[in-house]
Amino acid sequence: MFERFDTPEEIFSYKLGSALSMERQLVGLLGQLEQCTLREEIRHPLAVHRKETLQHIANIEHCFKLLHEAVDDSPCGVIEALANESKTMIKKSDDSLPDVLILAVATEAEHYEIAVYETLIANAEARKATAVAKLLSENLAQDKHALTVARTLMTTILEQGIAVA
Ligand SMILES: [Fe+2]
Ligand SMILES: [Fe+2]
Repeated sequence: MFERFDTPEEIFSYKLGSALSMERQLVGLLGQLEQCTLREEIRHPLAVHRKETLQHIANIEHCFKLLHEAVDDSPCGVIEALANESKTMIKKSDDSLPDVLILAVATEAEHYEIAVYETLIANAEARKATAVAKLLSENLAQDKHALTVARTLMTTILEQGIAVA
């Protein structure tokens, strides 16, 4: 853990570690959402993306190795806050309504991930860490796909009627 940052490389390492925490927390969050959803057509893509997220963790760990640095996770408060908010909202909401909240938190989380990866990739490319940029781009592509899936599901359930009896 850095006490202070003296180089852009140190900031990059910190942000890469924060992305690692983000992905580790998302494995737990996606698992919780899978358990809460009332619809099989939502549960399945969540499970698929949870498995992809395990690969995202492995890819980030590999990035540290490519940079000849120890794998170090920095805190990520954003996913923790999103997870806490969704848990509270689901608890307070009628039992027929979790799916709209599940797709909201999934959409918000993927948007955050995409922003994190776009920034990391720009930095990796600038320092000519091509292999690192490539691994992070693989994560970005799957997170963009997960966002598209969540958006499509949201549109479908809003049209069908959100509540499940
Ligand atoms: Fe991811
Ligand atoms: Fe994701």
